[in-house]
Amino acid sequence: MPSERVNRIEESATLRISDLANKLKRAGKDVISFSVGEPDFVTPQHIIDAAKKALDEGRTHYTPSAGIPELREAIANKFKENGISVSPNEVIVTPGAKQAIFEAVLSILGDGDEVILFDPAWVSYESCIKLAGARPAWIKTGEEKGFVPDDFLESISRKTKLIIVNTPGNPTGAVFDENTLKMIADIARDHDIFVLSDEVYEKIIYEGKHLSIASFDGMHDRTVTVNGFSKAYAMTGWRVGYASAPPEVIDAMLKIQQHSTSCATSFAQYGALEALKGPQECIAEMVNEFKTRRDLIVDGLESMGLECKKPDGAFYLFVNVARFGDGMSVAERLLNEGYVAVTPGSAFGPHSEDYIRISYATSQARISEGLDRMREVLV
Ligand SMILES: Cc1ncc(COP(=O)(O)O)c(C=O)c1O
Repeated sequence: MPSERVNRIEESATLRISDLANKLKRAGKDVISFSVGEPDFVTPQHIIDAAKKALDEGRTHYTPSAGIPELREAIANKFKENGISVSPNEVIVTPGAKQAIFEAVLSILGDGDEVILFDPAWVSYESCIKLAGARPAWIKTGEEKGFVPDDFLESISRKTKLIIVNTPGNPTGAVFDENTLKMIADIARDHDIFVLSDEVYEKIIYEGKHLSIASFDGMHDRTVTVNGFSKAYAMTGWRVGYASAPPEVIDAMLKIQQHSTSCATSFAQYGALEALKGPQECIAEMVNEFKTRRDLIVDGLESMGLECKKPDGAFYLFVNVARFGDGMSVAERLLNEGYVAVTPGSAFGPHSEDYIRISYATSQARISEGLDRMREVLV
């Protein structure tokens, strides 16, 4: 029987659509997936070669729980590019950024604590918060403001322990500018609140500049910065992520990791090391392609009356479909009638029911075909 702890969380709302999509695929239907959260590119060859070499050299055993020293050092150097000065001891390598988020949330939060979560937010934050016994305080951001939060001071209570920041963001692609991050940093500092900054889409940015909130005045000692290899280097299946945090938080995260996953996969860590140290042109190539796709899909949506501002980062669009119905019913119609899979907005927060999330991590040809089918179903 599921425990009370597990009963606090719900099955992902995205599952209903993906179950349906899989059923249609098994029945032989050509389903176009605008719902996946991963780059469709192959991992760059030099990264694959480094992992193969590690396998050939017998690097197939447990590594230190916090990660191989070379990788922790390379990550500490990488954080310097973000203006975050940390030693390798303040870095942990995890099996995916998701595990780092889970460990950080469990390390920081206790029963009854509150977490500021900007709606819409990536699906797993809420579940992590609830598993830790805490609860989310949702702050609506709103399309008119580009899904970027305004001052939320009035939502801070004595119980507020953590603010989760995700820029560039999933599901909106919004990039927080300096003023927004400063506003969040001021609130965090003034009220002694921790910040979890999820920066996994850092490299997938078209306009503006990525800024790490840990680099803002007084934020170094109250921020956990999470990043990973999945999105920037098309390495979703490798399961390597990382975080930097104040030593007491890293120690707590490490304890959880030691007793749960032990360490990130040994040879995958050597691939990740090559990702950081090797040529970086692969990122620009992927980002250029994503940008072309973004423009293609935004224009296509506009032509069917679905206005949406071009997002500055990530590879998602969060589109208001209220004129055709709520997000869930539109997602179901698109799938059942047009074999196009999108994610209903309700998966991302209580104020997002009128939206669907479209991922453009698929080829231009599939995007064009998907747009044609959407037009046929909706218009
Ligand atoms: C905002 C956000 N954070 C974290 C993750 C998890 O990344 P990883 O594959 O490194 O666990 C995802 C994956 O979809 C994401 O969208």
